Amino acid sequence: MKNLIQQLTEISSPSGREQNIRQAITDHIRPYVDQVQVDALGNIIAYKKGSGGKKLLLDAHMDEIGFMVSHIDDHGFIRVEPVGGHMPLRMPNQRIRFEHGAIGCFFYESEELSKHLADYQQVTFDRLFVDIGAGTKNEALSRVRIGESATFHPLFHDMGGKVMAKAMDDRIGCAIIIELLRQCSTPWYDLYLVFAVQEEVGLVGATTAAYGVHPDLAIALDVTSTGFRDLPKGLKRIPMKLGDGPAIKIQDRSMIADARLNQWIAQTAEEHHIPYQYEVLPFGGTDGGAIQTTKTGVITTTLSIPTRYIHSPCEMIDINDVHHTVQLLSHIVKKPFDS
Ligand code: CO
Ligand code: ZN
Repeated sequence: MKNLIQQLTEISSPSGREQNIRQAITDHIRPYVDQVQVDALGNIIAYKKGSGGKKLLLDAHMDEIGFMVSHIDDHGFIRVEPVGGHMPLRMPNQRIRFEHGAIGCFFYESEELSKHLADYQQVTFDRLFVDIGAGTKNEALSRVRIGESATFHPLFHDMGGKVMAKAMDDRIGCAIIIELLRQCSTPWYDLYLVFAVQEEVGLVGATTAAYGVHPDLAIALDVTSTGFRDLPKGLKRIPMKLGDGPAIKIQDRSMIADARLNQWIAQTAEEHHIPYQYEVLPFGGTDGGAIQTTKTGVITTTLSIPTRYIHSPCEMIDINDVHHTVQLLSHIVKKPFDS
């Protein structure tokens, strides 16, 4: 499992540039499914036939947050626009990797920011630039183009019980679906496995994928934040914790999850002695929010993997939470849900 997580998180595929991760995931799932399709936006929609005749959609987004080159100045310094939700304060000194392999490092306009260093609101992409070590505009242009994307430089690290990497959001969800396919034989549900594009820029891929499938039931897999029970003086409104099991989403800013489905999932976890926690998140959203409002509506929830330092190169998860999520899903896909 850790090898799979390493492989998936080391691939650079920001929103709208999912071709590399799509290829890797397709290679992994092909032996275990009846059909693999790629739609117009680039979503992978795989199908595995079950015995019960009802459709369950499992979703994980395969894109990650990234950057887009907008301008290169006369001295070869690069300006980028964020792709997805970045905190500019975290950028200085971070290494990033461009689509065609160039490596650069963020820094800020020192003269401007030395006046304002106490005020983090002043650290914005206006004042951040990327240095790839080029001396001139032409030298920079020989390595990086306008419109080229970048991601955080991969920094996978196995810490034993915990694992740290960029793009755990949401390659961990992708890894969980792949592992589920390896483990489960014949599901009760007809499974539609969606590896969605462009979640980080507005739940784009899940919106069209869910429309095409129109499932009876849907579960999105994604990461969630942890707070005061997990980190020194962590956020008071966030009780989720690494190692306490998958978090059953109750609500976030994109959805109020289906309460009957949640109760059924919690019961299933208890029957099989799988730890779980609940998630009420005061911000953020997942593909679940888009899937829920498809056509005449879909019974939907999200299972979340508690993750530290989300949207950084150091996203950290507990490997037991991953195993428990796979276990829980392997029971869910085998038994009919009766609302
Ligand atoms: Co995200
Ligand atoms: Zn995510």
